[in-house]
This record gives sequence, structure tokens and C-alpha cells, in this order.
Amino acid sequence: MAVVTVLLGWLVPLLYAVLGLLLVFLLWAYEHFLEYDEDGSAHVFYNDYCSYKYCFRSEKYGPVYRLNILHSVVLGITCPEATKEILMSSKFPKDKNFHKRIFYMFGERFLGNGLVTAVDHELWYKHRRIMDPAFSSLYLRGLMGTFNETAEKLMDRLTEEVDNQTEVSMLKMVNCVTMDVIGKAAFGVELDLLYKSSPFPKAIETCLLGLVMSARDLLYEYKPRNRGFIKEVREACRLLRSTGAQWISERKTAMQNGEDVPKDILTQIIKSAGQEETMTKEDEEIMLDNFVTFFIAGQETTANQLAFCIMELGRHPDILEKLKQEVDDVIGMKRDISYDDLGNLVYLSQVLKETLRLYATAPGTNREVPVDMEINGLHIPGGFTAMFSSYVSSRMERFFKDPLKFDPDRFHPDAPKPYYCYYPFALGPRACLGQNFAQMEAKVVMAKFLQRFDFTLVPGQSFDIKDTGTLRPKSGVLCTLKHRHTK
Ligand code: HEM
Repeated sequence: MAVVTVLLGWLVPLLYAVLGLLLVFLLWAYEHFLEYDEDGSAHVFYNDYCSYKYCFRSEKYGPVYRLNILHSVVLGITCPEATKEILMSSKFPKDKNFHKRIFYMFGERFLGNGLVTAVDHELWYKHRRIMDPAFSSLYLRGLMGTFNETAEKLMDRLTEEVDNQTEVSMLKMVNCVTMDVIGKAAFGVELDLLYKSSPFPKAIETCLLGLVMSARDLLYEYKPRNRGFIKEVREACRLLRSTGAQWISERKTAMQNGEDVPKDILTQIIKSAGQEETMTKEDEEIMLDNFVTFFIAGQETTANQLAFCIMELGRHPDILEKLKQEVDDVIGMKRDISYDDLGNLVYLSQVLKETLRLYATAPGTNREVPVDMEINGLHIPGGFTAMFSSYVSSRMERFFKDPLKFDPDRFHPDAPKPYYCYYPFALGPRACLGQNFAQMEAKVVMAKFLQRFDFTLVPGQSFDIKDTGTLRPKSGVLCTLKHRHTK
């Protein structure tokens, strides 16, 4: 009996020690499961759109492969038929668990139930229908003035840089333009970021980085070393939402005073909340969710596309020459680019599409699949999350010959269309609402830039991608510029 008592006396602390060691090991393993860049952007083993590992796994394991993340099953899918079946249907909602993590960020409401993140089909559908008119082709044609004027400001600003003979970060420049455009076109506000400093670009960058961290590292919030950054993210979220509240209130006052307000994104956001008398607190929050959603979705991705495009043109002088020739033929020395001119800039469309093939700036999406499916001849039991990435499939030899080569002729009007392996704006009912807006804006900015300037990339810079939720060129695309024509 005494021996048993002694043994038990040893056994219990031993058990605790083993459990403790196990816990330490699990935490260690979890930490090493995640990979970070030296600048803090996360590369996560299981959800890494950007790293070549994901491409490599898709190449190695085929059109569908399974990953177990603790108890949940995620399928990486590049099979075109399954991509079509799942993304083109409204039966499969976006993944609840993922979106829960960006509804609030570190306790601060962030994208909430906005149009990109809404998971509930009814709620999303109601808001999408209300937003549609702000993206009709008639309305977008009316934005040509805003696109032209704002791009013209960029040209003025770049002219100053030429005169000062300074190196220019084109990423920074196009970021200011796209934010000025979204400020004016969506919310009727002149931000004038090419000339004035503003806390918004930094706030958006901070929120996006926070979004990556909180979505990909479940323990991020609880690690003491992250406290400083988390505080910054919360402040950035609050800044964006309080700006939204102020601009919405100003617009409402204008509407109540019977002023003539544009039928822009802000007006539609206000309409989507319904009548003032019946408006709930949640309706008000959803207005702010959508404000933040459009402020970010409507700006970052286009800026990054433009910057990647300039980067690739700088690396391919032959393509650049051909493009300049087209711009000269279509718009000559004209200052105001018309809607019809955009349709005639065919090679520019090809270049922009090829840019998004190699650099899908919003690289992926996911869907919950509750039902059994047959994918590429395999029976897959229901209850999994399907993960899709245009970035990945667009870089696969299986779909694009010599995939890492920048070749706009892949998108020649007579070339065969890629079959569900190229979808930088996503597909189906949840596809990007701003696709036409973005490509019109991108064309106006690029056409004016190529019309006015010659540029070379500053030697020695990296051509790497930085993954901060959206993809952007790590170097900032440093260029030296010259005027093409003497003034
Ligand atoms: C090059 C520029 C752009 C790219 C590559 C892009 C890409 C995408 C992608 C991939 C999605 C799906 C996201 C997901 O499934 O989680 C999306 C959704 C969305 N984008 Fe864009 N986008 C761009 C520009 C814009 C612009 C300029 C706006 C608005 C002015 C915009 C507004 C939206 C909205 C509202 C959604 C949500 C659609 C819905 O679920 O109903 N985007 N975008």
C-alpha cells in the first residue's frame, strides 16, 4: 500500500510535467508552422497564396489536394471543372470561420457584414442589388471625367519629379491616384493625396497587414510582442470607421436639405440602410462596413495592378514600345481620353490582363462545401472548405505554357480564352463588383502615363511580391522618368 502511495505521489507530478512539456511542444510547433518575412508579412504554411509552396503543391499533388488544419479539412482546388461548379454557384457560401476573423479585428469591428465579407446569402444579395446601379455602364461612363482629371494631376506631379530628377516610387504615386479616384467617385470627397499628406494610406496598409495576421495566426492577438502593432491596427480601424461616419452624416444632411447629390457609392450605401425611422444600430454598422469595404477594395488592388504593370513594362522594352505605339495611334496628344478610346486600346487591355495573370492582386477566395462532390474523378465527402487562387492556377504550366513569361499575346482577342484557371476578379455571383470601374481607371492612368513619359526601372531593385493580404510589388517600383515630348 505504502509503495502504491509513493508511486502515485510521483506519478501525478510526472503526468503534469509530461502534459506541460507537450503543451510547450505544441506551442513551439505552432510557432514554427507559421513563417514570417523579416518585414512582418505572414507566410502561412497552410494558406499561403503567395509562396511558391502552394504552386508547388498544386503542381505536385494535382488538381485537388487535401490539407488538414487541426480538425477542419481544406481542399486546394485548381481543377477547372470544380472551380466552375463551385464558384459559379450561389449554393456555396464564403467560409464562415475565415470571415469571422475579419468581421472584427482585434476586437474592433472592421469589414463586418460589408459586401466582400458578408456570408449570409440574403443579406449579401440585398446589398449587392442596391449597389449595382453605382456600377452600371451608364454610370461608369459618367466617371470618365473623374478618371481623366485625377490621372492628369498625377501627370502634373510626375512632371515635377522629372524636373527635380528624382527617383520615383510608382507604387506610391499610383496609390495616391487610386485613393483620390475612390474618394471622388465613390464618396464625392477631394482627397488630393498627390499634394497633401493624409493618414488614410497608412491606415489602410496597417489594417490589411492586421487582417493577414489575425486571419492566419490564431494566437497572434495573445502574444505580448504584438501588442504595439495591435494597438495601431485598432486605431487605424477606428479612423476609417469614424471617417465613414462623418462622410455619411454630411451626405445625409445634404440629402435632407434637398441638395443635388450624385448617385454614387455613398448614396447607394445610405440607401441600403433603409429609412431613417426604421434604421437599427446594425444597419448603421453595415453602412460603415460597406464604407470601409469600398474604401479599401476600390483602391488597393487597382494601385497594385498599375504598379506591377509598370514594373513588367520596364522589364520588357519590346512590349513597352508596342504599347506606346498603340497609345500614340489611339489617343495621340489628346488630353481627355473618351470612353470609346478605351475600347480601342486593345493591346493595353491585353497587357493589363497579363499583369493580373502573373500578379492577381487579390489572390484568392474560399467557399464552404457542405455536400459530397466528385472532383477530378475523386469522391469527396461534404463538409470541407474549398480554397481557390487565380494566382496559383495562372502560374501553372498545366494551364499556361511557360507560365512565368510575361506575354500579353496570351490575351490576344483571337487567342483561346483560359478555361476557369484565370479569374483575378473571382467568378460567379460573388465576382468583383468593381471590375469595370478598376479597368477603366487603370487604362486612363496607363494611357496618359505612356503618352507623356519614358521611364526606366532603377537598377538593383527586387521584383519580389509582398503579401499583405493583397499582393504588391515589394520594391515600390522605383523609376527614373523623362518627358517623351518637349513641352
Ligand atoms: C484590379 C483591381 C481589382 C481586383 C483584382 C479585384 C479583385 C476582386 C476579387 C478577387 C474579389 C472577390 C473577393 C473574395 O472572394 O473574397 C473582389 C470582390 C469585390 N470587389 Fe474587387 N477587385 C478590384 C477592384 C475593385 C474596385 C475598384 C472596386 C470598387 C470600386 C471593387 C469592389 C469589390 C466588391 C464590392 C467586391 C465584393 C463583391 C461581392 O461579393 O458581391 N473591386 N474583387
